[in-house]
Amino acid sequence: MSLESKINATLALLKRVERDFSPATLASSLGAEDMVLTDLIAKHAPGISIFSLDTGRLNPETYDLLAKVQATYGDKVTLKVFYPEAQVIQLFVEKNGINAFYDSVENRKACCGIRKVEPLNRALKDHKAWITGMRRSQSADRANLAFEENDADHGMVKFNPLADWSEKEVWEYIRGNNVPYNELHDKFYPSIGCAPCTRSVAMGEDIRAGRWWWEDESMKECGLHVKKL
Ligand code: ADX
Ligand code: SF4
Repeated sequence: MSLESKINATLALLKRVERDFSPATLASSLGAEDMVLTDLIAKHAPGISIFSLDTGRLNPETYDLLAKVQATYGDKVTLKVFYPEAQVIQLFVEKNGINAFYDSVENRKACCGIRKVEPLNRALKDHKAWITGMRRSQSADRANLAFEENDADHGMVKFNPLADWSEKEVWEYIRGNNVPYNELHDKFYPSIGCAPCTRSVAMGEDIRAGRWWWEDESMKECGLHVKKL
């Protein structure tokens, strides 16, 4: 399928979500995929809101991009930033230390729980659907990702409109449409999360090799997309 056909299919899906699943919202980490979706939503489906989870530990480049997105699309889309509960972070850091995530998988998951998962639940409250920028080729775990799935944990439908896009197509769209993007992508960061838990990857390494690199492959989930059993 050509990029043009994929863009058209993505647009048709976004418009369906806007029409039939209102209120719907895009979860944006400000990564390359989310920037493609932000651009499409701002231009063609502005009824879909956008939210970002600021964990408090993002890279300066990501904050720069957030400001750029607000300046570029601020009057076209509703972009809301959600923060962790200050009191809960305070207690966790006092007990476990500022960089507790390096000490154990348990601490790492607790940190993701406080800084991402709980704010995600607040961001999704009262919505009928949410949208992500996940793609099948990002990891083995995502190989069978559907465009549309039932998210029983949040009691709503979850859409992954870019499921079948390649990394190359994402960048073709970004360059072709002058979409702002995170400068870290130019410094060999294909996947960007929190600063202390993300690093650049070497030539030929997996796209997500720079995320939680000290952990076993099977542990690398922050809880945003994990289904409770
Ligand atoms: S993660 O689960 O490992 O963090 P990844 O970085 O690949 O996921 O992002 C996948 C999708 O999750 C993004 O396209 C976006 O929809 C959502 N997402 C991840 N991080 C955030 C964030 N900080 N704020 C909002 N959405 C996010
Ligand atoms: Fe905490 Fe790292 Fe998870 Fe960010 S990615 S919430 S810093 S453990």
